[in-house]
Amino acid sequence: MIEKVGIIGSGTMGAGIAQVAATAGHQVVLYDTNQDALTRAEQSLQNILDRLVAKRRIQREERDAIWSRITMSDQMVSLSGSDLVIEAIVEDLSVKQSVFRELEAIVGKKTILASNTSSLSIASIAAALNRPKRCIGIHFFNPAPLMKLVEVIPAVQTSNKTQQLVEETIKQWGKVVAIAKDTPGFIVNRVARPFYGEALRIYDEGIANFATIDWAVKSIGGFRMGPFELMDFIGNDVNYKVTETVFKSFYYDPRYKPSFTQKRLSEAGYLGRKSGKGYYDYGEDAPEKVI
Ligand code: NAI
Repeated sequence: MIEKVGIIGSGTMGAGIAQVAATAGHQVVLYDTNQDALTRAEQSLQNILDRLVAKRRIQREERDAIWSRITMSDQMVSLSGSDLVIEAIVEDLSVKQSVFRELEAIVGKKTILASNTSSLSIASIAAALNRPKRCIGIHFFNPAPLMKLVEVIPAVQTSNKTQQLVEETIKQWGKVVAIAKDTPGFIVNRVARPFYGEALRIYDEGIANFATIDWAVKSIGGFRMGPFELMDFIGNDVNYKVTETVFKSFYYDPRYKPSFTQKRLSEAGYLGRKSGKGYYDYGEDAPEKVI
C-alpha cells in the first residue's frame, strides 16, 4: 500500500504532483535542493488551494487538511519511509541517475522509485539502481492537477508488481493511465515534437511571427494553445531538452531536429512564463513579443 509519497523537485511538475497526491490523502514530502524553489512552491500551492476554496471547489477544512499533509524539505533524508518517490528534476540523465543512486541509500528496499521524465530512457535510470525492478516512469502532464492523462512506462527491468501498484495508485488519484513502451518521448511527447518543431521552422524561415502562427493553429486548427504559448507554458529549457533527447535517441532523425531559436532563448534565460519572458513577454508593461 502506498501511504507516504516523496517528490523530488519542487518546480512546475513536482509542486503539481504534490498537490495531486496530498489531495488523494497521502502524506507528501516535497524535496528540493533549492530553498527558493521550495518557497515558490509553497506560495504557489497555498494560492492554488485558496483559489479552489474561493471557487467553492473544496471546503476550507479540506484545503487545510490537504495543506497539512504536505511537508517541504531541502534534505533528501526526509524522503525516508516513503512508499513511492516521484522524481521531477532537471531533464538530464546523469543528474537523474546520481539522484536515484543517492535516494536508494535512503529509502526502504520496497520503495517504488519513479521518474516523471518526458523523454529519457527509464531503463537507463533503473540501471543506476541496485534494485532496478522497483523503477518505473510516471509521466504527468502540465498542470498535473488538471490533466487527466498519466503515461506509465515500465522499463525492461520493472517488475509486474511495481507496474500494478503504480497503475492502481494513479487510478485512485483520479487519473487515466496509458501504458507506454520505454521509447524516446513515449507517446504524447513524440506526437508533440512536430507540433513545436514545425512551428519553429515556420518562424525561422520567416514565414510568420509567433503570434500569427499561434493564432492560425488556434483559430484554424482548433488547438487550445498555440505552439509558442505552449512552449512558454512548459518552459523553453525543459522543452528544448526533451527535443534534444528525442532527436539524439532516434539516431539524429531530422524530423526531430531541435531549433537554434529555442536554444538561444533557453540560454538567455527566456524560459517562458516561469521566468517572465519567453516567446512572449509576461511583464506588466511589456511589448507582446520578445524577439
Ligand atoms: P522545473 O525547472 O520547473 O523544476 C525542477 C526543480 O528541480 C527545480 O526546482 C530545481 O531546483 C530542482 N532540482 C534540480 N536538480 C535537483 C536535484 N539534484 N535534487 C533536488 N532538486 C533538484 O522543471 P519541471 O518543468 O517541473 O520538470 C521536471 C521534470 O518533469 C523534467 O524531467 C521534465 O522533463 C518533466 N516534465 C515537465 C513537464 C512540463 O510541462 N514542464 C511536463 C511533464 C514532465
